[in-house]
Amino acid sequence: MSFLLKAYDHLRPVLFTLQPETAHGVAFAAGRVLQQCPGGVKVLEAMAGQPSPSLARKVGGLSFATPLGLAAGLDKGAELLPVWKALGFGFVEIGTVTPRPQPGNPKPRCFRIPSEGLILNRMGFNSEGAEVVAKRLKRRPKGLVVGGNIGKNKVTPEETALEDYRAAYRWIAPEVDYIALNISSPNTPGLRRLQAPEALKPLLEGLLHTRREMALEAQPIFVKLAPDLAFDELDAIVEVIAASGVEGLIATNTTLDRGIVSEAQRKQVLAWGDGGLSGVGLKAKAQAVRRRILERISSDVCFMACGGLSDGLDAREALDDGADLVQIYSALIFQGPGLVNAINARLV
Ligand SMILES: Cc1cc2nc3c(=O)[nH]c(=O)nc-3n(C[C@H](O)[C@H](O)[C@H](O)COP(=O)(O)O)c2cc1C
Repeated sequence: MSFLLKAYDHLRPVLFTLQPETAHGVAFAAGRVLQQCPGGVKVLEAMAGQPSPSLARKVGGLSFATPLGLAAGLDKGAELLPVWKALGFGFVEIGTVTPRPQPGNPKPRCFRIPSEGLILNRMGFNSEGAEVVAKRLKRRPKGLVVGGNIGKNKVTPEETALEDYRAAYRWIAPEVDYIALNISSPNTPGLRRLQAPEALKPLLEGLLHTRREMALEAQPIFVKLAPDLAFDELDAIVEVIAASGVEGLIATNTTLDRGIVSEAQRKQVLAWGDGGLSGVGLKAKAQAVRRRILERISSDVCFMACGGLSDGLDAREALDDGADLVQIYSALIFQGPGLVNAINARLV
């Protein structure tokens, strides 16, 4: 077991006495200090171990040091990119970034169920806004693929959502390697309705128009989907995406399905209220969605697998299913920073 995995075994019980957002704040403060210490990132890189060159791959015209990436939502403001790279991630999806700053939902809005490796969140796109994040991205490290996950502001009605995605795109796209359209968060009222073919088609057409205007045609766009779609809905959505001219899909976001929680914990989870669930229990749903999508798209549409992946075997299974890349979030919270190298090593 690596030093980082062992160290986190000692740190986790302390961190988990704190509210999830407080623990997040402490971890980010430590990350910022490390980034500012001369040589700090280099030491972390040496401790974590870097991905084997055999893991390198090209997807959507981009070069990834490893197919393992950090999913959206953990580093919404692109604050710790050097740290993620030092831990061995091949890519990081920052965001969701909204065009204008917004606070997100009232706290508490994030809860852990450690015995099941699950997280419930209703963050609601707390975002510093696209301008601030775009400026920070100008100092991003080299050798790490960065995706920009964009969404709409809560106050923006669904009918004018395209204008929000365009505004966020104009700020973020010039600073990142790919764009992810988040139309699948359950925590912004009405957002998931943008997945419906009649809403999705004009949204994608409009955004592709903006991409052409900005001469960014070479930069891939991914659409991130929910795990809660019936297969007939999913098929229709995938058809629209594949025909639209965008390059890829990400599946999945968090689930609204409380059935993935054990009987023993369900009452507690229901008492916490609204939000999306992620982590181990999401794996089966995400896998079913992934397999359904991969059966229906041609190999020139790129696919990122996300949802409940918690070790090297899960990552390998997703890649063997035909995914080009994999993303993790919840497993990192429960297993700590040593997990990145453990998955990379297993993939070799
Ligand atoms: C606290 C939290 C915040 C999240 N925020 C976002 C977000 O802003 N945008 C997004 O596309 N996904 C967000 N997600 C979803 C993750 O990117 C991912 O799709 C989901 O957690 C499933 O992966 P996992 O089971 O590995 O965690 C968030 C997840 C968590 C737990």
